[in-house]
Amino acid sequence: MYGSERAGDDAERTAFRKSEKKYKLYYENNPKSSKKKKQPKHVDLSEVLDFKFISELYNQKGELPPGVVHVNRGIDRSIFGLENHPGFYFIPGALTLDEQCKWIRESLTNFPQPPNRTNHNVIYGPISNLFAAAKEGKVFVEEERSNNDLDSDSNGSVSNGDSHRWKFYEEDIARSRGKTCKLVPASVLLRKLRWSTLGLQFNWSNRNYDVSLPHKKIPDALCQLAKRMTAPAMPVGEEFLPEAAIVNYFGSGDTLGGHLDDMEADWSKPIVSMSFGCKAIFLLGGKSREDEPLAMFLRSGDVVLMAGEARECFHGVPRIFTDEENAEITPLESEFSDEDDRCFLDYIRTSRININIRQVF
Ligand code: OGA
Ligand code: MN
Repeated sequence: MYGSERAGDDAERTAFRKSEKKYKLYYENNPKSSKKKKQPKHVDLSEVLDFKFISELYNQKGELPPGVVHVNRGIDRSIFGLENHPGFYFIPGALTLDEQCKWIRESLTNFPQPPNRTNHNVIYGPISNLFAAAKEGKVFVEEERSNNDLDSDSNGSVSNGDSHRWKFYEEDIARSRGKTCKLVPASVLLRKLRWSTLGLQFNWSNRNYDVSLPHKKIPDALCQLAKRMTAPAMPVGEEFLPEAAIVNYFGSGDTLGGHLDDMEADWSKPIVSMSFGCKAIFLLGGKSREDEPLAMFLRSGDVVLMAGEARECFHGVPRIFTDEENAEITPLESEFSDEDDRCFLDYIRTSRININIRQVF
């Protein structure tokens, strides 16, 4: 799945890869400007399915574009499907602004907390309170092993790896020690946070769920939400049991390469995927990378279900939009307008968060 793109020319030439390249963010010199400032390259978005527009059209006129179907499955929102992709469901605007804010906050504060693992674990060990440290302008410092005097005080934001080598310090203290130590501002680490895992922990080295890794249950409120959202894709009388979730964090230029989520034992259960923050392009391919994918926009509050056959289809995120016109996060911005929420606002203005929930067994 992740990072599983085959190396070499073959992978570069697949239909899926071509589509990824089409939508990916590239910079080029602006021909109209005398200054050599690079600009995002123009991308033709005319073929990108827009379920917000589709939903509005359907509600006003009962019309649907070719290939799109309306699914009536007893929840209080319009759900759309695709004729060529049985098991794929798109619920535009499924989550309220309140819900979006709640899960953005959780994704930045609680979800990356140990024992949940993040992409930073392999380098730094478990990191506690990263978001708070970034907000307070702290700096992560690698102690020299022989330097015992750093062990005593950590300004309340203790965090260290198995080797107890990294800790957060106030910036001035960190700089004074920094002549002999490695330093990383917490804000940089926050920007580089790419994923965290909830519930059963996914072991990226072995590419499996490692039940022996310490873990907490997925928070109940998130389980309830996932159960509610998956209802349209569940066989009658069966209940979705959320066991693992991956939270993906995207900044400008970040992508999620085409992959299959094939590590769960039970593929008959849907994956529920929720989007927050900046708008993105999602590619839904077929069972082979040679199948040309469909591109669609994902906005904050949209929910996607991949069940049945769609569970076996390649998919990925080649692009997020962080510019004002395309990010489409104005409603979220007003929700985070409080001075206390400044740090959430600053983060989400140029980021996207995706929570992806699975039943593993
Ligand atoms: C994943 C995934 C899609 C998204 O995490 O497996 O497919 O919208 N995420 O970020
Ligand atoms: Mn996936």
